[in-house]
Amino acid sequence: MNDHLRRLTLLLTALFCLLAGITTAQPEPTRPEPAPPSTHAYRINQSLGRGINFGNTLDAPSLGAWGLDYHPWMFDVAQRAGFDSVRLPVRWSAHADEHRPYRVSPAIFKLVDDAIREARRRGMPVVLNTHHYDEIFEDPAAHEDRLVSIWQQVAARYRSVPDELLVFELLNEPHNELTPERWNELLPRLVETVRKQNPTRPVMIGPGNYNSIAALDKLELPSDDHLIVSVHFYNPFEFTHQGAEWVGPRSNDWLGREWTGSDDERAELRKSFERAAAWAVEKGVPLNVGEFGAYSKADTASRARWTRAVRDLCEELGMSWHYWELAAGFGVWNPSQQRFNEEIKQALLGEGPLPDSPPSPAEAP
Ligand code: BGC
Repeated sequence: MNDHLRRLTLLLTALFCLLAGITTAQPEPTRPEPAPPSTHAYRINQSLGRGINFGNTLDAPSLGAWGLDYHPWMFDVAQRAGFDSVRLPVRWSAHADEHRPYRVSPAIFKLVDDAIREARRRGMPVVLNTHHYDEIFEDPAAHEDRLVSIWQQVAARYRSVPDELLVFELLNEPHNELTPERWNELLPRLVETVRKQNPTRPVMIGPGNYNSIAALDKLELPSDDHLIVSVHFYNPFEFTHQGAEWVGPRSNDWLGREWTGSDDERAELRKSFERAAAWAVEKGVPLNVGEFGAYSKADTASRARWTRAVRDLCEELGMSWHYWELAAGFGVWNPSQQRFNEEIKQALLGEGPLPDSPPSPAEAP
């Protein structure tokens, strides 16, 4: 028995030395991919996944002004298509008093209540933002208190919605007089306001200059554990905004611009997205692409190629995304014909390759 024990010990020692030798002889592992910290905000950002903007509804200058009302059917369509989450742009500034205490109207709250109820019923997370606060971009000093007050009211009203189902996005596309520097100064006030009643709510923040990737370097994040950073992407602008009425007559000169998916075109996109991803890893925050899309005046095959290329980059680099938008000029759904724009839907949500695009007139026999 003793012998057996000794032999077993010797065997085990030999085995241990062998394994230790193998282990130490292993080459140095190659640099590991930085694993995303498994925080609340990363987890929730991941669950936003593939999302859709309900654009041109509650963000219009007045309700219905852009021909589309918010309606629960939008959730049906979004869910049927296979989107994971919704970004709900709201022009709160058009529905709040001009004077202190800047009371938000019960009518807009009722609509947003309905949308959030609808989303909760389906377990679809919503990103609720402040959209088109045009006045603050011209005169921040006159409007910053009003924005803080709007967030006080919104944050109080929705404080009991689970963090998993509601993200607050502080302000869409700061620009003009709301410079990156001024935005950095306002941010801690806004985050503090939300935190009073929403201690762990994920809060989304975008950089200045229309949430552009190029402005990320100027963004100073307030110290807070539950932030998600969101950027918007519409490059090349002359392609995505060709014929866009709101850009002005120069956009007509861009009509006919294609996006062929050449190596150079793809490399341009990759450069931007990798820059954003590197910034986010360095800062330790999850990243969302809250808007991207190409207007319907571009040819459909180019739109589909560009849309798929952007989606692929977001997914490769671990970013959640929201396509701009569901049912208007960029729409994935055609409300008058009650059908999906299949090419765009496939580009966004399809698994297989895009169907071959028809040859351009120059290539046609
Ligand atoms: C604006 C929309 C516009 C889109 C593309 C959004 O941020 O709110 O009105 O259609 O960008 O330009």
